[in-house]
Amino acid sequence: MATMTKGRVKKTTAKRTKTQTKSPGAKREQVIIFDTTLRDGEQSPGCSMNIAEKIQIAEQLARLHVDVIEAGFPISSPGDFEAVNEIARTVGKIKGGPIIAGLARAKDIDIERCGEAIKPAGKRGRIHTFIATSDIHMREKLRMGRPDVIRAAVHAVELARSFTPDVEFSLEDAGRTDWKFMVEVVEAAIAAGAKTINIPDTVGYCNPWEFGEQIAYLRATAANIDDAIISVHCHNDLGLAVINSLAAVRAGARQVECTVNGIGERAGNASLEEIVMNIATRSDFFPFMTRVNTKEIYRTSRLVATTTGSRVQANKAVVGGNAFAHEAGIHQDGVLKHRQTYEIMHADDVGWTGESMVMGKHSGRHALGKRLEAIGHRLSKEDLEKAYERFKMLCDKKKVVYDEDLHAIIQDEISDVKRVYEIADLQFTSGTAGVPTATVKLNVKGKVKMEAACGDGPVDAICRAIDRIAGKEHRVEKYELGAVTEGQDALGQVTIRVSDGKRTATGRGASTDVVVASAKAYVDAINHLLAMGKAKRRTHPQVGP
Ligand code: KIV
Ligand code: ZN
Repeated sequence: MATMTKGRVKKTTAKRTKTQTKSPGAKREQVIIFDTTLRDGEQSPGCSMNIAEKIQIAEQLARLHVDVIEAGFPISSPGDFEAVNEIARTVGKIKGGPIIAGLARAKDIDIERCGEAIKPAGKRGRIHTFIATSDIHMREKLRMGRPDVIRAAVHAVELARSFTPDVEFSLEDAGRTDWKFMVEVVEAAIAAGAKTINIPDTVGYCNPWEFGEQIAYLRATAANIDDAIISVHCHNDLGLAVINSLAAVRAGARQVECTVNGIGERAGNASLEEIVMNIATRSDFFPFMTRVNTKEIYRTSRLVATTTGSRVQANKAVVGGNAFAHEAGIHQDGVLKHRQTYEIMHADDVGWTGESMVMGKHSGRHALGKRLEAIGHRLSKEDLEKAYERFKMLCDKKKVVYDEDLHAIIQDEISDVKRVYEIADLQFTSGTAGVPTATVKLNVKGKVKMEAACGDGPVDAICRAIDRIAGKEHRVEKYELGAVTEGQDALGQVTIRVSDGKRTATGRGASTDVVVASAKAYVDAINHLLAMGKAKRRTHPQVGP
């Protein structure tokens, strides 16, 4: 990609005026959009995804035209390795598609595993390696001195270069790193072969004025900085991730790391849609462009929200349910007279077209398959048959079936883990008087097992009955219920995080009956726990960045 060529990027910005404005017709520099929804986003509590879901999101990110997808942290688990590897094999092969990156600590074992994971992407595979450079991280976490950290960084970059020419190096906690030391590390990493230098505000501590200055200082001071692209990666602990990223771009950064809906560790990462729409909407102020197809933003946001169970707040910029709603009479009047009186972006710009009725009970398999493909689900014949059965059942209960319903059906029906337990039947009673009770029949490896239990409510009673069949108690750590679409007949979707005391797993279920959706989600989580148990017995330690 010509715009990613080193050097040229920074030379042009050096001559820019203080306000960085440009005439509308002038050629714009590209800001590379590095999406880390599948890595940093997935690290946010309760947002873990299975491999099938990650692949689906990666395919949608490719349609969104992000430049780089950080698909995971291969050493952290066999599941992460497999996801990065599979995404490299599929999305990494799309002509003109995104680069596929994997994360690796500055350790041989991480880099080797990452190199193996991204291999199918060939030249479009990137290793993103990192080590912390702030005094507090080096002293308290790494217990390493500055020279040791520089040595480790250089070795990591050199080793990564033996797997791919595309190596990114991050100075973890750069936002709290001594600036002179930052420059030393950056110069050494570039000399060792890093093509992208990432400056993360790991703990969301910086503000836009100082972060912009830090990037400007790096550009002005590091001798070989023109041989690499400067990237930033901002966390949102003080609500400044987006503005810090934009300030950095104005100061010379040409890659921004971000996530869909801003999901990520703690308060999250910089939100992709906000960065992209700031650059697009204020093109009078930002002389830049991204390759993002903004019309895919809303669809991507919905997919990530339903997949992770991390719902988007109604007043969230760009993709919130109220982002384009005008409630006050004075605003409605103004918008009717002239849209731009109160609207700086239009819902169409981000692909929000309202819920689209797509299918009804007269739609056949072929039409369903085509529609599913259009919204990003390419299914095998067998899976399409399962989806079709479920679709027909839904048509009996729901007057109109929307794209969102179809996403929910697929998430519910198509699993990447072996279903050791499957619900055969459920009966439950609850009300204002009496004790809620449930009877559950599960298919367990071809045999039907039945148990009954009482509980605080019908969901609790069902979970207890399922535990009796499983012969093991589980603890629900998180429970989220939401409606997939509007209306009384909407599908309820439940996301549940369950622990067996050693591990936790997330499960999802959808049904027009929320108690049934809860039972499905609970069983799905237990099936994931069982699959994790098996995988863990096969390989690898669990690690975190
Ligand atoms: O926040 C951070 O510093 C990170 C790095 C691993 C890039 O996520
Ligand atoms: Zn991060």
